[in-house]
Amino acid sequence: MPSKITIVGAGNVGAMTALWLAERELGDIVMVDIPQVDGMPQGKALDLMQAGPVLRYDTRITGTIDYGPTENSDVVVITAGVPRKPGMSREDLVSVNQQIISEVISQIVPRSPNAILLVVTNPLDTMTYLAYKLSGFPKQRVVGQSGILDGARFRTFIAMELGVSVESIHAFVLGGHGDEMVPIPRYSDVAGIPITELLPPERIAALVERTRQGGGEIVKLLKTGSAYYAPGASVAAMVEAILKDKKLVLPCSAYLEGEYGLRDIFFGVPVTLGRGGAEKVWEITLTLQERTMLNKSADLIRSTMAALKF
Ligand code: APR
Repeated sequence: MPSKITIVGAGNVGAMTALWLAERELGDIVMVDIPQVDGMPQGKALDLMQAGPVLRYDTRITGTIDYGPTENSDVVVITAGVPRKPGMSREDLVSVNQQIISEVISQIVPRSPNAILLVVTNPLDTMTYLAYKLSGFPKQRVVGQSGILDGARFRTFIAMELGVSVESIHAFVLGGHGDEMVPIPRYSDVAGIPITELLPPERIAALVERTRQGGGEIVKLLKTGSAYYAPGASVAAMVEAILKDKKLVLPCSAYLEGEYGLRDIFFGVPVTLGRGGAEKVWEITLTLQERTMLNKSADLIRSTMAALKF
């Protein structure tokens, strides 16, 4: 039987994730959205099916407003949520998206009790924590998409700066998803050479800052929403690592129980991603300065988590 991947929320990130996944032929895809947009997930699914003959994939894609077809999913990607609108505080967003995530989890968990939950909804680390608490799933089976996208942004900016292929670059980003993330230059390299040996500190600082603001830069340009091509690609890479049991080491939001001195929080750290989900958290030695930045990032997540109501 083919694997089943459910994508909750057939909006921009959901639909783009479906496309990247369809091309990889990893399994059947179900896109589910709310009754208020009946026809939209079905229409997008049909459109994506019709791209198959041209792009040469045979992936079955279903669009629905009913959770029935999501039954027995192997991976559930959660992109349902609303982005922040002018005048909305972070806490306002937390309370709206908390309701949405609660509703999604109550529909998904009884139908797919063995699934791996991959959360994309912002504020990312807080919503992943919420999904973990409400689902009752083991920590390995709940993971948030964060560092792959942040790392990809850092890699893009390093490549642009040095005029080399993005493929030659590895980037290392820790911490919360958002302005408070912690890119680590000394572990970011071009073909194994740390960028600290290739670029002056002020240029590195500028690239780090642009990476931190990477999502916001796109929101400002788009004006009507947030990024979805790179987020969709990042989610698809995670789903592939899980379903192929690749044991890829990728930065993801994972539950910490003392690693990096942090407890009871979802936080961006390197993890081994395989069929069991976030199978292992990798802990690395940090400098005092990096640790201070990481703690600040964790404090910011905790202040957002404080707006959750259980
Ligand atoms: N169940 C299922 N789908 C829902 C629900 C729900 N309870 N509530 C909202 N949705 C759907 C919306 O109808 C919409 O189709 O979620 C979709 C969200 O899509 P977009 O508004 O296009 O947002 P998108 O750009 O895809 O971002 C989704 O990912 O990167 C994050 O910050 C981003 O939290 C946001 C999420």
